[in-house]
Amino acid sequence: MVETIEWTTHGVVLIDQRRLPREQVFVTCRTYQEVAEAIKTMVIRGAPAIGVAAAMGVALGVQQDADFETVCATLAATRPTAVNLFWAIDRMRRLRASLEGRSRQEIANRMIQEAQQVRQEDIALCMAIGRHGAALVPDGKTVLTHCNAGALATAGYGTALGVIRAAVESGKKIDVFADETRPFLQGARLTAWELQQDNIPTTIITDNMAGHFLRSGRIGCVVVGADRIASNGDVANKIGTYSVAVLAKENGVPFYVAAPVSTFDLSLASGDQIPIEQRPASEITHLFGIAVTPENISVENPAFDVTPARYITAIICEHGIAREPYSESLKLLAAKTARASV
Ligand code: MRU
Repeated sequence: MVETIEWTTHGVVLIDQRRLPREQVFVTCRTYQEVAEAIKTMVIRGAPAIGVAAAMGVALGVQQDADFETVCATLAATRPTAVNLFWAIDRMRRLRASLEGRSRQEIANRMIQEAQQVRQEDIALCMAIGRHGAALVPDGKTVLTHCNAGALATAGYGTALGVIRAAVESGKKIDVFADETRPFLQGARLTAWELQQDNIPTTIITDNMAGHFLRSGRIGCVVVGADRIASNGDVANKIGTYSVAVLAKENGVPFYVAAPVSTFDLSLASGDQIPIEQRPASEITHLFGIAVTPENISVENPAFDVTPARYITAIICEHGIAREPYSESLKLLAAKTARASV
């Protein structure tokens, strides 16, 4: 499986996700500013992967001996929706505070170690999500997914695609429908590429075909990732997720969300409070540099939407499966992480 992000002695090495699947090009970020730019410009994307990149960005900033608060603020200003970004910065900030008074070298070494630990943990969490989720996937059916919640969106293995991988590894005969995911095409470019590498049978459909196939009886379940989950179970994920969830419920197809506890934001009462990133109009007006709309046309480009909890059959995390009422089940699962890190 391809390495999404790695810490090396030369800097943080990322596969450039903007150029997949046409080319496998790696980018080396030598400063925290370069990591921030890579997150902003989608060289690396996907909530858990953004979190790992932010942790490594903070470690680079400490190694550069840059002002710590400037480093954190620069990284925090990259993308607003995925809470894993802020979770990772907070984790690094807490560690930095606990190292007050130590030598510069010792602090830098510990911060680098911690960033590498965030990456290692993320892979283990994804595998645990996969184990819990695999049991929910019906054998002999098609799984529909939206966007890319795979190895590329995490440090490895994936959340939604982790569930699919684990189901296949457990011997289930399934195939995958990947929504194309306009406008950035994470499904058509990244999910399809990743699953093809693993020889998991995959079919790309355009986003507006999802309802047609959900009605056909062929789809056994939908599994998607998340960028932020509010305490009532509302889920922010890639734009278009909400429509798929409503169509799934209408057709009696289970709709699962797979995400680590670091994607929970229990400080928010509901999804209405989740900040939604607005991305440049050019992502919609142009395809690979070619204009596909009239000039000067008005464009809206929210990168995420919020799916209300009532459309979500279950939320799968590394500690198990949460179901309604989410205000209780999410708290119980999150407490398991809090206990483990004491
Ligand atoms: O804009 P992106 O590509 O960062 O959006 C990614 C998604 O919406 C994913 O579904 C989500 O981050 C979960 S990734 C495991």
